[in-house]
Amino acid sequence: MKQTITSIIKSKGVKKLSMITAYDALFARLFDQEVDMILVGDSLNMSFAGQDDTLSIGMDQMLYHTKAVCNGAPNTFIICDMPFGTYVNEMTALKNAILVYHKTKADAIKIEGGKEKAKIIKYLTQNSIAVVGHIGLLPQNVRSEGGYKIKGKNEQNISSLIEDAKAVENAGAFMLIVEGVKPQAAKAITDAVNIPVVGIGAGIDTDGQVLVWSDMLGFFEEFKPKFVRQYLDGASLVKKSIKKFVSDIEEKKFPSYEETY
Ligand code: KIV
Repeated sequence: MKQTITSIIKSKGVKKLSMITAYDALFARLFDQEVDMILVGDSLNMSFAGQDDTLSIGMDQMLYHTKAVCNGAPNTFIICDMPFGTYVNEMTALKNAILVYHKTKADAIKIEGGKEKAKIIKYLTQNSIAVVGHIGLLPQNVRSEGGYKIKGKNEQNISSLIEDAKAVENAGAFMLIVEGVKPQAAKAITDAVNIPVVGIGAGIDTDGQVLVWSDMLGFFEEFKPKFVRQYLDGASLVKKSIKKFVSDIEEKKFPSYEETY
């Protein structure tokens, strides 16, 4: 059964939530109904479009990929990541979030940021947009912070993250993603709010886990973060198959009689 905001919220403390990213209909179809949620992450700018970070993706590209994922996974709850610069104030955020609902079948949108984004999240939720928050390591801050910085390393920072989580919850977000934080920080955040907290690189104590599909299936070879568990060696399987295809052509083993009209 497809998850809803209500069933997702009710999962807290009852069932661990699973989420994977997808960028196209082909893979979304494979993930449909296998996971609780699919995130059309702006990480697609790196693994799909080959850029160095997520910052250069725009609304049009996110809408294109979200549409494709919705086509492939009609039975799964789908979240569209809002690209950098598309939610700088309440009006801009609402205009772009409405575009997501008008042009795709996505169930919710995701916004990076804590207390500093609370006003924007509140405006969106008051205008019937389902919002997922995202705190901790924020990939959209990679240039402003000079790199990908792990958070929650001391008591002061953990308190600040808890304030972020509560601000996002109070603003009406129904779920929170916590990325790149020490496990004790993730646990403290998870215990501090009533909405489900889904972790990535945040240890075992969150209400669920999310991974980027191309990392966990071994297709993205540029770098492998410590927190990724690789469930398939996708890249080497593909390369091996391509080599075999080429040698079959060269050795006149493909096509066979059965593969010919
Ligand atoms: O863009 C993305 O894939 C994400 C996940 C890492 C949570 O935001």
